[in-house]
Amino acid sequence: MCGIFAYINCNVSRERRHILEVLFNGLRRLEYRGYDSAGISIDADGDVASAELHGLAAPGFSPLVFREEGKIEKLVTSVYKEVNETDLNLNQAFTNHAGIAHTRWATHGPPSPRNGHPQSSGNGNEFLVVHNGIITNYMVLKETLLRHGFGFESDTDTEVIPKLAKFVHDSLTEETKSGNGGGKDIQFSQVVMEVMRQIEGAYALIFKSPHYPNELVACKCGSPLLLGVKEIGESENRGVFAESELRLAEDGGKPKEFYFASDASAVVEHTKRVMVIEDNEVVHIRNGTVQIYKFEAGKARTASGGLPRPASVERALSILAMEVEQIKKGNYDHYMQKEIHEQPDSLTTTMRGRLIQGENGKVKGVLLGGLKDHLRTIRRSRRILFIGCGTSYHAGLATRALVEELSGGPVTMELASDLLDRQGPIYREDTCFFVSQSGETADTLQALEYAKACGALCVGVTNTVGSAIARGTHCGVHINAGCEIGVASTKAYTSQIAAMTMMALALGEDTLSNRSRREEIIDDLFNLPDKVKEVLKLDNDMKMLAQELMMEQSLLVFGRGYNYATALEGALKVKEVALMHSEGILAGEMKHGPLALVDETLPIIVIATRDATCSKQQSVIQQLQARKGRLIVICSKGDANLMCPNGGCRVIEVPQLQDCLQPIINIVPFQLLAYHLTVLRGFNVDQPRNLAKSVTTS
Ligand code: F6R
Repeated sequence: MCGIFAYINCNVSRERRHILEVLFNGLRRLEYRGYDSAGISIDADGDVASAELHGLAAPGFSPLVFREEGKIEKLVTSVYKEVNETDLNLNQAFTNHAGIAHTRWATHGPPSPRNGHPQSSGNGNEFLVVHNGIITNYMVLKETLLRHGFGFESDTDTEVIPKLAKFVHDSLTEETKSGNGGGKDIQFSQVVMEVMRQIEGAYALIFKSPHYPNELVACKCGSPLLLGVKEIGESENRGVFAESELRLAEDGGKPKEFYFASDASAVVEHTKRVMVIEDNEVVHIRNGTVQIYKFEAGKARTASGGLPRPASVERALSILAMEVEQIKKGNYDHYMQKEIHEQPDSLTTTMRGRLIQGENGKVKGVLLGGLKDHLRTIRRSRRILFIGCGTSYHAGLATRALVEELSGGPVTMELASDLLDRQGPIYREDTCFFVSQSGETADTLQALEYAKACGALCVGVTNTVGSAIARGTHCGVHINAGCEIGVASTKAYTSQIAAMTMMALALGEDTLSNRSRREEIIDDLFNLPDKVKEVLKLDNDMKMLAQELMMEQSLLVFGRGYNYATALEGALKVKEVALMHSEGILAGEMKHGPLALVDETLPIIVIATRDATCSKQQSVIQQLQARKGRLIVICSKGDANLMCPNGGCRVIEVPQLQDCLQPIINIVPFQLLAYHLTVLRGFNVDQPRNLAKSVTTS
């Protein structure tokens, strides 16, 4: 949901061409977060040094703003066109320069250049802002600002922010001149903190202003933001840094480059040294130094009327575990395709170091470092709740039965938005699992706050180290699937199921009666990557099926037991990328309505791999065949005749694993089908219409 990015080079000469390319590349990496429109702001041909000398915006020193509706490449083309048509020199070097950039997923106002970011304070672009999130009190602020003579050009909630910044800046300047402001210069970060005092909602913001040349201020509350730091002349990619090197040094004179970004994928190609910015932190970059302040909403003005100057806080940098290759498509045409085919590896990584083989006298089991101290509490809890949205909810659903079986307690499924809408009861004795690939989904995050307030133990299951959910939960498991860029979740889903299966095994470890069951599952977890490799060989078959189905309007998917989740997730994949209506249905509900839809034309996929519900699925197939249903049956290898004794169905055979791991195998044909359908239907695989990854607004 919107990506924000900024690049600031300090005491190191960079040509305009380089600055533009860094900003564009940052946006390309973040484009999956929103692709309705994009924009950047860089400095004009003004003499930056002399502007600095004069302290304020020198004439002709207003920043340039470029905004375009549509994809980032459209913005790139239009910026270079404008640069070529004007006397902006691409080779012009800037020893210090601050640029900001934004890619938008529209919330307030349709995609258009005027609704794109950076949003501006007005003529002269005295304050420019890129924003990810939603300002909930923007109407009230807008009315106030209108009364103070501000005009508004966009439909966005964001526009109040730069205007408020200008209003605050002008008022404080006035106060200072009249001697009421403590007589001190107003710092950029102070202006931003005054703005924060007045805005409500969720945001990650980066501010740029000609009043503060070559400075940037960023802050956040509820939306993700991180800072990457690169010291020129150091090898950024060596893995280990001394503790002293992970401090943000005060040596401002050193050449440095800084990057703000909504996520690490936009930073990793420049540096691995990052700091995840916490809620209510204000980060001010100036003259090559970084000042971090903790914003306190209630802090009043000083007795003399001046602004409080909070002490800066110290933060250490951490090293990204990500590799640049992870964010590239490699030999694949699309990220979704790459991520589907990567699953044998991503699953291996999810399980690495966590499975104990049981050799040399060791007990076969699992080791989940982030959970081990909490297992007793979880086992004793009154109830377990799985909470998430979309695919992450489906991953919880796929593991629910195993957790119930091995823990012996009830597991309740909750869609985060519905839990919040109902304010459903949560007790101190409950354990809530928050499942989220991004770790930033607004509804899941709000549900986490709600559950924490109710006193429940909160466990995170995320793919993003340092994400809000990872940090906000009491304990948790990282699924380690690697960066997922395709908007449709694929490898994260299978890794979520694998991670939660291991969690179920850990929960069941205190019960002797289920030992052989646990050991069989562990054996199959070891087999899992090879079995996924095997099922990926269906790629061509699924392409042929996609060719058959590409003109269809609709698709039904019937599943039950462990594979009810597969039916929902398979249908979601087809729906969201191939833009074909598809519906996942619990097969046990077939006779309670959906059967009315069955005829000779509507394609129906029935999941009927070997498990306790298999014979019931056999009778579902017979009943559908009796009504001349157009069936595609997914069954275990060798079961084709058993499942479709009379022929007449298209059969897809998949390798068989323990029932609880079968959803990982069974989803792969659906992922491949969705992928090929999308390509054949001519839609954008990685950036489906109207969607964005990381839904950071409710
Ligand atoms: C579908 C998909 C979404 C996400 C959902 C939750 O392919 O990706 O349904 O699963 O938006 O996102 P996370 O897992 O990041 O909380």
